[in-house]
Amino acid sequence: MAGQHTFTIIKPHAVSKGYIGPILNKITEAGFRIIALKLLQLTRREAERFYEVHAERPFYNDLVEFMISGPIVVSVLEKENAVEDYRKLIGSTDPEKAEEGTIRKMYAESMQANAVHGSDSDENAEIEATFFFASSERF
Ligand code: CMP
Repeated sequence: MAGQHTFTIIKPHAVSKGYIGPILNKITEAGFRIIALKLLQLTRREAERFYEVHAERPFYNDLVEFMISGPIVVSVLEKENAVEDYRKLIGSTDPEKAEEGTIRKMYAESMQANAVHGSDSDENAEIEATFFFASSERF
């Protein structure tokens, strides 16, 4: 059975441009419940660890640099079929390919500055949520 939780990050450029409110609004309007939420700035070590699976990719160093460039919003979202439904809501990683009305179509600037992160599996959703939130911080 599909899980009920996913994890998201509103990335630095989207935070600095004032899109926290509009993005959270899209998320809740789509039926997700916010069960954990924080505004924070990653250290280099944290960003390297979070994106460790991409360590061999050519964009890894730039991605880490970008993700530590300013504050981000991290959140855990609850809904039936959360991972898949959230990925539909945010659209393709490449904003050029994202469908109209998706968060990335509306707020992404590039492949790297693609407005939001969304977990790609139930297992990763749990790993990523645990990276940022103690169980006492999830409601
Ligand atoms: P995210 O969902 O946070 O997961 C990994 C991130 O790597 C992805 O969003 C993009 O920001 C970034 N990324 C993936 N592919 C590329 C690419 N080809 N060039 C630059 N950045 C990329």
